[in-house]
Amino acid sequence: MNFDLSSEQKLIRDTARDFAQNELLPGVIERDEKKEFPKSQVKKMAEMGFLGMMVNPKYGGGGMDTVSYVLAMEEISKVDASCSVIMSVNNSLVCWGIEKYGSEEQKEKYLHKLATGEIIGAFCLSEPEAGSDATSQRTTAIEKDDYYLLNGTKNWITNGSTASIYLVIAQTDVAKGHKGINAFIVEKNTEGVTVGPRENKLGIRSSDTTSIMFSDVKVKKENRIGEDGFGFKFAMKTLEGGRIGIAAQALGIASGAYELSLNYAKERKAFGKEIFKHQAIAFKLADMATEIDCGRLLCIKAAWQKDNGLDYSQTGSMAKLYCAEKAMRITTEAVQIHGGYGFVKEYHVERLMRDAKITQIYEGTSEIQKIVISRSILK
Ligand code: CAA
Repeated sequence: MNFDLSSEQKLIRDTARDFAQNELLPGVIERDEKKEFPKSQVKKMAEMGFLGMMVNPKYGGGGMDTVSYVLAMEEISKVDASCSVIMSVNNSLVCWGIEKYGSEEQKEKYLHKLATGEIIGAFCLSEPEAGSDATSQRTTAIEKDDYYLLNGTKNWITNGSTASIYLVIAQTDVAKGHKGINAFIVEKNTEGVTVGPRENKLGIRSSDTTSIMFSDVKVKKENRIGEDGFGFKFAMKTLEGGRIGIAAQALGIASGAYELSLNYAKERKAFGKEIFKHQAIAFKLADMATEIDCGRLLCIKAAWQKDNGLDYSQTGSMAKLYCAEKAMRITTEAVQIHGGYGFVKEYHVERLMRDAKITQIYEGTSEIQKIVISRSILK
């Protein structure tokens, strides 16, 4: 077994690291505080090819593997998890969903623009009363002549106000339960689409999270993705890959906090020596390093399975569960190592701790990952 990264994968990781340090780090504290959308940073991410990394070059993407995507996600998340969630949703949910299941016309029309970052997309599954329980969709799309009439509200939508297109999951036939759910590509500028105010969040504050209201929105039939009734499976398959991206985000938040803690522990002195020479701190750093390595191996395994056409559902959920739980633990420890300095914004770790929390919640809570994993191992 070869654990080495290829030279291309190393180059992508190092490029993402330099980009994050040079372009994302300046201003990250202010963007978080003011919940300012990282507009110019996202534009640069698009220019660097980070918004359509895995998309086939014929549609304007980078044609890279999922392992490279994980490496880039980790580096960007170390510095700015708001930027990495924008990147993750565009890559793993929107671009991947359209490339894998969309028609050739849909790819021609939307994928190139999404992959090059000319536009960004959002994934609209969650509702006020359907978050974890994703089959309980209240949004309806009623079939008419050559269109569907879409009505309902979606909640917690990443890229809600900045996206130009939405992938919307809706119930087309209530009697059929999850088999009566479909997925649609909806353009934001369609009549009847309203974007709610931006949420004021604990973490990933500069990313743009809103609700979206659909009121008698006419969606052309050609904008349905896949066969009639494919929408729930579309959402589940898309989220399987999305969970690898969020696992890598959680990993990056954890490793960012670890690196800051290691540096701090080498500089800060207490009781006559650098604090890393105290076993209380050294053991914390040893646990962090071990957990980060385990998380990275799980992320890369899931990505490798995906790249090799293997089933990655269980490993992707394990990676997301493990990395999210460890991100919360490690960032909390990072604040502890920093002491009072950890509690103020200049030292970054308090932000990473706040950002870590969402990784236990979105794209399936930790409890949802345990459902997926337990069903997989028990089947
Ligand atoms: N792949 C393919 N099909 C799947 C599947 C998968 N991974 N998981 C389920 N299905 C199929 C099942 O086979 C079943 O179909 P059949 O009846 O034909 O066999 C159907 O879907 C229903 O499956 P279940 O009975 O297992 O459904 P369930 O109600 O028990 O729910 C669940 C399963 C795993 C809990 C699912 O509801 C789930 O993943 N919930 C979490 C949703 C989620 O992650 N939301 C996040 C929102 S998106 C987001 O956060 C993006 C963002 O902005 C950052």
